[in-house]
Amino acid sequence: MSASATQYPNYSPGLEGIPAGISSISEIDSDRSSLQYRGYDVHDLAEFGSYEQTAYLLIHKKLPNADELKAFNERLGAERDVPEAVYTALKALPKATHPMDSIRTAYSVLAPFDPDYTAPSTDIAANIRKAERIIAKASTMVGNGHRIRQGLEPIKPDPSHGAAANLLHLITGTDPIPATVKTMDASMTLYAEHGFNASTFACRVTCSTLSDLYSGIVTGIGTLRGPLHGGANEEAMKMILEIGTPENAEAWIRDALATKKKIMGFGHREYKKGDSRAFYMGKVAKELGVEKGNTKYGEIAEILERIMRDEKGIFPNVDFPAAYAYYLLDIPIDLYTPIFVVARVAGYSAHAIEQLENNRLIRPKAIFNGDANLTYVPLSER
Ligand code: SDX
Repeated sequence: MSASATQYPNYSPGLEGIPAGISSISEIDSDRSSLQYRGYDVHDLAEFGSYEQTAYLLIHKKLPNADELKAFNERLGAERDVPEAVYTALKALPKATHPMDSIRTAYSVLAPFDPDYTAPSTDIAANIRKAERIIAKASTMVGNGHRIRQGLEPIKPDPSHGAAANLLHLITGTDPIPATVKTMDASMTLYAEHGFNASTFACRVTCSTLSDLYSGIVTGIGTLRGPLHGGANEEAMKMILEIGTPENAEAWIRDALATKKKIMGFGHREYKKGDSRAFYMGKVAKELGVEKGNTKYGEIAEILERIMRDEKGIFPNVDFPAAYAYYLLDIPIDLYTPIFVVARVAGYSAHAIEQLENNRLIRPKAIFNGDANLTYVPLSER
C-alpha cells in the first residue's frame, strides 16, 4: 500500500536534521558557528597546531605530547611511500581522468598491500595502524598522481615532510616555502573532519556492514566528489574566474540568483549563520592575496558574500575561501577536492573506527509510494 511522507512525522528529505548516530569526534554548533574536534576549537588547532596533531587527535582521541608527536611523524614519514603497483595503475588511466577518480583508484589498489589487509574489520588496533598508513600515503598519491598525468615520473616523498609539505613538493617539484606550507597545513586542519557530512556518513554506512576501512575510504571519496559536497571548491574557483573582476561581481551574482543558480561555495546544511571554518580560511586567503599582490579574488569574494548575505541570508562555506587561497598558491583547480581528501581521510578513519567500536548495521526504512499487488502479464500479451 502506497504511503505518503506525511504519515511519517520523523521523516525529513535528505535526512535533514535527523540524528543518525552518536559520535564524540566533532561538534558543530550552528548557532555559535563553531566547530570543535574532540573538544578543541578548530581555529586553535589550525593556528597553533598542525594537520598531524589534528590527525593524531582524531585517531588517538587526544592531542599528542612532544614525544608522541615525534613518534607519530616518524611513523607517517616511514609510511609516506606507496607500492609501485599504485603508480602502474595510475599510469594506465586515461590522461583526462579527474584526480578524484585517480585518488579513489589509488586507494583501491593500495588496500591489498596493507600489512593488516587480512585483519578482521573489528580489529581496532589493526584499524588504527591502517588509518595511519591511509593518512600517510594520501598526499603522496595525490601529488604523484598529478605528476603522472603530466607525463612526469613520481618523486620519492621526503620522509621528513608532513602531509602539506609533501603534497606541495610533489605538485610543484620544488621544496615549498614555510609560509605556503603553513597555509596548506591550516586548510587541511579545517578540512580534516566535519561530523556526519554526506561522505563521512557514507563511510560509516560501509563500515557498519563490517566491511573494511579501505572500502569505507573509497566510499567516502566517491561521495565527496559531488559538487554539492567536496566538489564545490573547484566549482567556486571556476565561478570566480568567470566573474573575472570585482567590477563584474555584483551584476554576475544578481543575474545568477535571478536565474535560481546554486552559488558554489555558499550555504550549508548545518551552519545557518556561517561556516566557522570560512571565517578563518577567508582571513588566510585575503592575507595571501595581499602578500601576493593580487587582491582581486578577495575583493570579488567580499562582493559575493555581501550580496548572498543581504539577499538570501546565505553565507560562504569553507570551500569558497579555500578555492581562491589554493589558486593564489598556484594549485591546479582540479586538485582542490583531492586536497580535501588528503585532509579528510583522517576524519573518515576516525568515524569508521568509532562506528566499529559500537557497531549496529545502518539500514534506514524507505517510505514506499509505488505500485503493489499487480497481476503478472505474460510477455506475449504486453
Ligand atoms: C561541504 O555537510 C558538510 O559538513 C559538508 C562540508 C564538510 O566539511 O564535509 O561542510 C563540505 O560540502 C560544504 C558545502 C559545499 N557545497 C556547496 O557549496 C554547493 C552549493 N551549496 C548548496 O547546494 C547548499 O547550500 C547545500 C547543498 C550545501 C546545503 O543545502 P541544503 O541544506 O540542502 O539547503 P537547500 O538546498 O534546501 O537550500 C535551502 C534554500 C533553497 O532556496 P529555496 O529553493 O527554498 O527558495 O537556500 C537556497 C536554496 O535554493 N540555497 C542556495 C544555496 N544554498 C542554498 N541558493 C543559492 N546558492 C546556494 N549555494
